[in-house]
Amino acid sequence: MTNLRVAILGATGLVGQEFIKVLKQRDFPMDSLVLLASGASAGKQVVVDGDEIKVHEATHRLLENVDLALFSAGSEISRVFAPEAARAGVVVVDNSAAFRMEPGIPLVVPEVNPGDLEGHQGIIANPNCSTIQMVVALYPLHRVNPIKRIIVDTYQAVSGTGRAAIEELSEQAKLVLGGEKAVPHVYPHEIAFNVLPHIDVFLENDYSREEWKMEHETRKIMHAEDIRVSATCVRVPVYAGHSEAIHVEFAQPMSPEEARDILGRSPGVRIMDDLDTNLYPHPRAAAGRDEVFVGRIRRDTSHPNGLAMWVVSDNLRKGAALNAVQIAEELVERGWL
Ligand SMILES: NC(=O)c1ccc[n+]([C@@H]2O[C@H](COP(=O)([O-])OP(=O)(O)OC[C@H]3O[C@@H](n4cnc5c(N)ncnc54)[C@H](OP(=O)(O)O)[C@@H]3O)[C@@H](O)[C@H]2O)c1
Repeated sequence: MTNLRVAILGATGLVGQEFIKVLKQRDFPMDSLVLLASGASAGKQVVVDGDEIKVHEATHRLLENVDLALFSAGSEISRVFAPEAARAGVVVVDNSAAFRMEPGIPLVVPEVNPGDLEGHQGIIANPNCSTIQMVVALYPLHRVNPIKRIIVDTYQAVSGTGRAAIEELSEQAKLVLGGEKAVPHVYPHEIAFNVLPHIDVFLENDYSREEWKMEHETRKIMHAEDIRVSATCVRVPVYAGHSEAIHVEFAQPMSPEEARDILGRSPGVRIMDDLDTNLYPHPRAAAGRDEVFVGRIRRDTSHPNGLAMWVVSDNLRKGAALNAVQIAEELVERGWL
């Protein structure tokens, strides 16, 4: 296998920076790395492994001269650049929501549906961060005992919104602690010392688009059109790591012991579940880690076939950059890149 020419579009953003780290940490087989962002970042230097790499403004020409392009610059930019790059023979792994639900475009979590990569047409979609961690935790259980219904409430970190939101939380926290009023810019209300049940826009049925994504992406990834999903997605003043309270209804009863046994053997999952020692997942412990952490596994007392659990993962890693790089690794391993 020859080493690949790789481009990152959105290289100056939170996910883009994480892409660089993950590619290096996993020793991804690459010959060259092209860093692309908006015109405002052109000429900036990014240090990669001690070497400075210059950032260029994204152009079709720069993108067409690579084998693999990792996109994290938002849906609009993906729509501008991905189809043309794919036509030029580049494999694009796209972090935005632009193509996720398009028929024929694989939406992949390598622990769940790597086979969907077969016959890809050049664009592969990386799912929404909250969906990724949920399906990594639920799919192994679903294979044993089909899931009928999922109720999920999320507690999502501000890094999920990008660099500007991290700055907004830091600045607001200082202002509020100093007794001053903070003026929100990124979110409609203050995020410091607050929680907002509002991620992405609201839709006609009064769910938010983030909640819609959790419902529809879950069905596509798990190949389970019948699963009913109801999500409430909430932004919390946490820098990194999304948390989820998940209630699952199975076709048959499943004990917490059986779930722990299955998940303990499942790829990408780490169980943290010992109430005697206050062991359960939380964002501070999950930040910077690759696993999807699962704890508080217990019977759902409101349903005979129900289980409740608490799932936490780093949204920038498994929720974005790591999952995309794992997709690329899978393609390389199967000879599809
Ligand atoms: N953050 C997460 O946890 C997460 C998880 C899953 C998916 N995603 C998706 O990943 C994408 C990026 O998220 P992020 O958190 O990294 O955002 P971010 O920190 O705001 O970074 C945005 C990146 O996009 C680039 N960009 C903006 N406008 C551009 C343009 N016209 N041409 C080229 N590049 C442009 C920016 O470049 P400049 O610095 O030059 O402006 C920057 O590199 C979004 O689609 C998001 O939905 C994010």
